[in-house]
Amino acid sequence: MTVPAVEFKGVSKYFGEVRANSDISFSVLPGTIHAIVGENGAGKSTAMKILFGMYRADSGDILVHGKPVSFRSPIEAMTSRIGMVHQHFMLAEPFSALDNILLQQKGSAFSLLPRKEQKKRLTEIAEHYGFVLDLEANVEDLSVGEQQRVEILKILSQDSEILILDEPTAVLTPQEVQDLFRNLRHLRDEGKTILIITHKLKEVMSLTDSVTVFRAGRVVGQKKTAETSADDLAEMMVGRRLQKAQERETKVDPNQVLLRFDNVSAKMGNHAIHEIQLHVHSKEIVGIAGVEGNGQDLIIRSLLDATSLDRNSLTGQVSHEGTLGAFPEDRLRLGVLPARPVYENFILGQHKSPLFSRGLFLKGKEVISKTQEIMNTYDIRPHNPLLSFEKLSGGNQQKLVVARALSQKPQVVIAAQPTRGVDIGAIEFIHNQLRTARDEGAGVLLISSELDELMALSDRIVVIYKGRLVAEFTRSQFDEVALGKAMGCGK
Ligand SMILES: Nc1ncnc2c1ncn2[C@@H]1O[C@H](COP(=O)(O)OP(=O)(O)OP(=O)(O)O)[C@@H](O)[C@H]1O
Ligand SMILES: [Mg+2]
Repeated sequence: MTVPAVEFKGVSKYFGEVRANSDISFSVLPGTIHAIVGENGAGKSTAMKILFGMYRADSGDILVHGKPVSFRSPIEAMTSRIGMVHQHFMLAEPFSALDNILLQQKGSAFSLLPRKEQKKRLTEIAEHYGFVLDLEANVEDLSVGEQQRVEILKILSQDSEILILDEPTAVLTPQEVQDLFRNLRHLRDEGKTILIITHKLKEVMSLTDSVTVFRAGRVVGQKKTAETSADDLAEMMVGRRLQKAQERETKVDPNQVLLRFDNVSAKMGNHAIHEIQLHVHSKEIVGIAGVEGNGQDLIIRSLLDATSLDRNSLTGQVSHEGTLGAFPEDRLRLGVLPARPVYENFILGQHKSPLFSRGLFLKGKEVISKTQEIMNTYDIRPHNPLLSFEKLSGGNQQKLVVARALSQKPQVVIAAQPTRGVDIGAIEFIHNQLRTARDEGAGVLLISSELDELMALSDRIVVIYKGRLVAEFTRSQFDEVALGKAMGCGK
């Protein structure tokens, strides 16, 4: 019998009262790709962080190639040739890709080589796996896909043979996902073992050899991928069948425009938008499809943050009726205070509302009870308004940001990548919230890199390519191939 590369045996981990992992057992054979799936907060990242030496288990054993291990730090894990790419990358932004990789190598044989040799070696690894990457570029100038390649190159240069990837595709474009998967298959075929956390069951089905399902801190099943299906996995994850939303053909009142972009052009560095003409009506969800980096960001900035655009570059008219609710794409950079409690983050931006303040003073009780109510409605777990934001799991953070925007019942909703990193149950929930906002009269502008999401939600989809709107589809014309083509080449 083959000895598993990684085996968890009854591993448990508490954070105070929260039982993040409870008697976790599963195993992964060497030279395979293994998925870890489960709802937000199910304990996936925690389990992987224990394996990687970031947390200590309270009880249970982890075996690597049959030998019990208990790493006290990631450095010890790396010495045992285990590498991890985190859910939120941990690169130091003002430094080059090369420096970021070298920073982590202190004390290794690799670190003693002259810089020229190090660069040569890294370039060789990159070329071997077909990574396209400029090692001298500053990390802050790299796309997320490129930053991720830096992270993967970093662990490959440490000679890792067990690779852990925590939601690697959440922030990638479809093309980048294809490239990543090609690289991962290549790594597997060379004998490496890969553990990958993902919410995308299509990816589990197309990439992996086996899968473990977590629910509420426990393992509810381990399967060979070939012997299960996306529907079965979804049901194991949430404990019920998910409903397919019914589609509808909408009739909107052409006179009820809530959001207008009239002939809008703008620039920011190398990026530009040209003559954007787009109206969003009451009771309508308009989707913007496009490969990331084609100007979506500038459309949002022209509405929400015009001062961040190049001076005097904004021309045309942008306007909206009524209140505006937006959820930013990058929740960790915009709009949250990670170290502050959930309730403070919840009222951020509305702390002066008479609902929550009396003169200069916050109505503490009201704020906390309102936050509690929202956490219950949106099932943001754990249901504790006093917990600091950063202690919520990734998907629960996203749910809070969405809840904050929608709970104020805005007339215009700007939803940028609204379900990035959230689990399928929560996707269903957020989608229903957006549909409800629309049905109650709001106009919704949805920016998403997921075609499935755009087609499920939008009443109309426009395609952006190189800063121009190049195509428009009404619901009856939605077609994955035609949309994909317009996104890829503007036709
Ligand atoms: N450092 C911490 N302190 C306190 N609680 C934590 C900490 N890290 C995680 N938790 C809690 O442990 C539970 C499991 O979190 P974990 O991050 O492992 O979930 P996850 O399955 O990775 O979710 P997601 O899909 O949202 O990333 C959650 O309830 C979370 O709030
Ligand atoms: Mg996680």
